[in-house]
Amino acid sequence: MEIIITTLGPKKSHYEKILLLYSGGLDTSCMLKWLQDKYKAKIYTFTADLGQEFADKSRFKEIEEKAYKLGAVKHFTLDLKEKFLKEYIFPTIKANGLYQGIYPLSTAVGRPLIMIEGVKIAKQENIPAIAHGCTGKGNDQIRFNVTAKAHALDVEILMPMIEWNMGRDEEMKYALEHGIPISNQNKKYSTDENLFGRSAECDILEHPEIEPPEDAREWTTAPESAPDTPEYIMINFEEGVPVGLNGEKMSAVKLIGQLHDIGCKHGVGRIEHMEDRAIGLKSRETYEVPAAIMLIKAHKDLEKYVCTKHENSFKAHVDQRWTELAYEGLWVDPLRGALEAFINEINKKVTGTVKVKLFKGSAEVVARESPYGLYDLNLATYDTTSTFDQKLSYGFIPIWGMQSELGFKLKKIALNNLKEKKE
Ligand code: ARG
Repeated sequence: MEIIITTLGPKKSHYEKILLLYSGGLDTSCMLKWLQDKYKAKIYTFTADLGQEFADKSRFKEIEEKAYKLGAVKHFTLDLKEKFLKEYIFPTIKANGLYQGIYPLSTAVGRPLIMIEGVKIAKQENIPAIAHGCTGKGNDQIRFNVTAKAHALDVEILMPMIEWNMGRDEEMKYALEHGIPISNQNKKYSTDENLFGRSAECDILEHPEIEPPEDAREWTTAPESAPDTPEYIMINFEEGVPVGLNGEKMSAVKLIGQLHDIGCKHGVGRIEHMEDRAIGLKSRETYEVPAAIMLIKAHKDLEKYVCTKHENSFKAHVDQRWTELAYEGLWVDPLRGALEAFINEINKKVTGTVKVKLFKGSAEVVARESPYGLYDLNLATYDTTSTFDQKLSYGFIPIWGMQSELGFKLKKIALNNLKEKKE
């Protein structure tokens, strides 16, 4: 096993073949041309369907046609929706994955999957280099490159956004000169979408002192324009993963789609915050994550209900560590698998139903039910019928507080002694 960092940047000036992770947007379209010129390479393109472009399935056909028009020799579109949900999103739900308490990792967990599939294509087609559209400033470059290197040590990763040194205006000029169509879509903002969420960056969003304008949101109704009456939904969980809505069992893709629609209608899941990127930059992030927010809130509530206080306290640490690994591009680290062994063990009993109230941007858990809930009405009730013997408190509290009370007194004495010594 060797890791040698010999050069910063590409090792060769010519590649016979390059696989480009292709979104169909302006950056990767310019890249398709640029890589052909710069490396005299045949370009293969790969577009992963993670459920982006919810409404418009014909979009993937258009992307394919565009790739061929710009000179790709072979294009791959893979429908990864089911895999994405089962192997990446469900673990995120089980880990209550909210980076810095707020961002449900929608982009973060999609990246390893895209690259793993990309590496498979590269191996199958004998392609020595993979190019992607990340800049040198974000997290996605780390997620892509670390995943690729772990799965194929000898694959070369090309990052034209770093290499070509073009600003936005030069890129537009390049596009015009090379017959690359510039659409109005996504012009202002840099966006990323999948079944679990949508992120937007750049332009006015780079100014944290200004509220994100309405046009940065494409999915959700503004909370103030959302329906005036609340809607209630019941999310059914089995072993920590969502399996049904309002008692009706359905596939993961259908379930997320339905939650997405209901959430968007009620303006749920609009998030904006100052995020700490892995590389140390702070960035203003704007998200729309309706299904993700409902699912993580509901899961967390149900999990808390069926776990002991010790499990709940310890799991919060495990969840946070898992979330940071996923966010920081270390999906391949064995620690993730080890943490998941614990997370899965806990989730074996996270089965039940959670009732969520949706109203003008908020999604609040209002009720839950589980055969494994640790709540006992008989013990907890303030009615006199309770069999919980309150007299036990006379014995419990002195023992519970004994060491803390003693510590408090002795610290006071120690501080007094110090004070006297100084005087
Ligand atoms: N900050 C988020 C993350 O690191 C989202 C990045 C998405 N990229 C984009 N071009 N909008 O996961």
